[in-house]
This record gives sequence, C-alpha cells and structure tokens, in this order.
Amino acid sequence: MPSTIELTNIEQSFELADSTITLFSGLDLSIEQGQSYAIVGPSGSGKSSLLMLMSGLEKPTNGIGELFDGGKVRPLEQLRSDVGFIFQQFHLLPELTALNNVALPLKLRGDKQALQKAKAWLDKVGLAHRADHKPTELSGGEQQRVAIARALVFEPRFIFADEPTGNLDQQSATDITNLLFDCCTQGNAALVIVTHSETLAAKAQHIYSLANGRLTNTATVDREAMPC
Ligand SMILES: Nc1ncnc2c1ncn2[C@@H]1O[C@H](COP(=O)(O)OP(=O)(O)O)[C@@H](O)[C@H]1O
Ligand SMILES: [Mg+2]
Repeated sequence: MPSTIELTNIEQSFELADSTITLFSGLDLSIEQGQSYAIVGPSGSGKSSLLMLMSGLEKPTNGIGELFDGGKVRPLEQLRSDVGFIFQQFHLLPELTALNNVALPLKLRGDKQALQKAKAWLDKVGLAHRADHKPTELSGGEQQRVAIARALVFEPRFIFADEPTGNLDQQSATDITNLLFDCCTQGNAALVIVTHSETLAAKAQHIYSLANGRLTNTATVDREAMPC
C-alpha cells in the first residue's frame, strides 16, 4: 500500500490587525506516494501556503491533515523526516558551503557517507565545481540547485517543490525537472510541484488549479501515458 497524505475540509486563514484573510476553505486533497502533482494558480492564491500545510510544516486553521502509512493513521507533523521541501526562497544556511548545506540532512540522520552522497548530488545538479562556495557567492539559480540537491539527497518519500525552476535557464530547468520526476518514477516518491510553467505542469500526472480559494483538478493522466 502506498502511503497517502489526506487533507479533509481544510481552511487556512490569517488574522490581520483589522481583518481576516481566508486563503481557502472546504479544501480536500489526496497525495499518494509514487504519483506526481502540479499546482498552478495566480500569485497570492495560496499555493505556497497549501504546500506548507500538505507537508505538515504548518497547521491549518481548521480541518484534518493525516498520513495513512502502513495501515496506520498518523498526524501530518510526523511526516517531517520523510519530506524533501524546496522552498521558494531556498532557505540555505548562509554560514555553510554548498557541500555542507547538501550534507546537512544526512549528517542530522547520522549518515557516515554524508559528504560523499552530498558531493554526488552536487554533481547531479551541475554544481560539483561550486562545492566550497557559500550561498552569497552563488547566483539565484545556483542557490536553487543547491536547495534542490539538499531536498533530494536523503531520498524522501514526499517531495514538495515551490517553483523549483523559477530561477533557472532552460537547460538547467530541463535537467532539474528530469531529476525531480526520476525521484517519483524510479524512487517511488510523491512529487508535488507548484509552478507557473505550463511545460513543467504538463509532466505531472495530476494537475490542480488554485484560484479564488478553490482547488480544482484540471487533469489526471495514467502513469503509462506519461512521457517522462
Ligand atoms: N503567515 C501569514 N500571515 C498573513 N498573511 C499570509 C501569511 N502567509 C501567507 N499570507 C498571505 O496569503 C496570501 C497567499 O500567499 P502564498 O501562499 O505565498 O501565495 P502564492 O504562493 O500562491 O503566491 C498572500 O496574500 C500572503 O500575503
Ligand atoms: Mg508562492
């Protein structure tokens, strides 16, 4: 049985000084391990917020977020060690080199081969030659690729990528897209991508649109039919 994230009747609101913003309410969504999902929608519609809820990094105002895993139901916060999250703003640690940023999730898990594996992933994202550089010495696109290597290096079962190709040139975007989808098709990870790129969204098996507080499934394609 693949593990599944189930969001049921979710509402997310923010209290401001004199008003309340409700991003969405009554939202239902299932994310299954081994499947790929794209979420598209206008800026400000709540895509990043939804990704934070799905991954258990934030709690909804109302509603239920659960992980169905090996016949057990667990709260989503327990998913954390299985989540590779690529943040829109990267969130690299400024004091660490690219290599040590990528190695960090492995070191935290006590992996003795952390540096070796991190080097291999820097190579996969085309940055082996920048291993000793700190984030401020890297371009936006290079930082994005380091963040992607850091999110994937420990082979998480759930990958959440917030506009992962937004800062990349076309060739890098294609390479990174292939890496992400390989984790899904070969590594059996769930892949959830927020993107403005129609080309990238079209690669996912499930496409959702988030607009005006409503999440709509606009396409679902069988794995066999996928070109990637
Ligand atoms: N913690 C917060 N407090 C108040 N408003 C927030 C918070 N997080 C997000 N928002 C607001 O929610 C809206 C949706 O944000 P976001 O999820 O980043 O949208 P998107 O990723 O689709 O551009 C924005 O108007 C943003 O300002
Ligand atoms: Mg966003």
